[in-house]
Amino acid sequence: MTARPQYRRTGGIVFGALAILATFYVVYSVVDTLQQLDAVERDRDRWQRPDEILRALDVRAGNSVVDLGSGAGYFSLKLAPLLGESGHVTAVDLRKLSLFFLKLRTFRRGYHNLQLVTGEPHDPHLPPASADAVLICNTYHEMSQRQVLLQHVFRSLRSGGRVVIADREPAEGSSNSHEVALEQAATDLEGAGFQVTQKVASLLTGPDREVWWLLVATTP
Ligand SMILES: C[S@@+](CC[C@H](N)C(=O)[O-])C[C@H]1O[C@@H](n2cnc3c(N)ncnc32)[C@H](O)[C@@H]1O
Repeated sequence: MTARPQYRRTGGIVFGALAILATFYVVYSVVDTLQQLDAVERDRDRWQRPDEILRALDVRAGNSVVDLGSGAGYFSLKLAPLLGESGHVTAVDLRKLSLFFLKLRTFRRGYHNLQLVTGEPHDPHLPPASADAVLICNTYHEMSQRQVLLQHVFRSLRSGGRVVIADREPAEGSSNSHEVALEQAATDLEGAGFQVTQKVASLLTGPDREVWWLLVATTP
């Protein structure tokens, strides 16, 4: 049995209306998320000391820098104008959605020197000897396969390249999974062949009174 023409037309109108509503909802959600990211990052600028973290990378225009665990690009978007058109940022993350938002934000700001890479927990998919520096901020505690990942990072760096890691130090007796000890990271770096050149045990105190540390290490 076939539907009568007026039912087919009504069905088509309802379907069309639902499709338009769904499209509006998706566009609204994307715009809202972009605005929230900007607001959260403006607040973060007040306590994260991004300038100090970027200074530790010791990079200049023309350099190639990897933001490993970029998220939606808090640091990638600060690095892009620093490195200029002759340099470039490689933003690596496991989450395609974070990289999607970073792509939109990159486009909105008109940057052309940012490349997005979907990594895997054990492999950031970086070409060998291609980077001057690698930044791992607020991400090391999430990395599940640190030794093998650091070996990839080591291979991705040019001779004399550096890696900067910043993260939260566990408070005494804390079992918070969003923290990792500075000394643990230093041991991991040395195990991967890096030379640790700087340890800042107390870089800053975050909004939840948590202490952040910073490590700088270089390849020989
Ligand atoms: C807490 S967010 C921090 C993002 C960014 N670094 C920042 O400071 O805003 C941690 C990010 O690291 C990513 N991540 C965790 N393990 C990773 C890995 N092995 N390789 C690449 N990204 C990873 C997560 O998907 C997440 O987006």
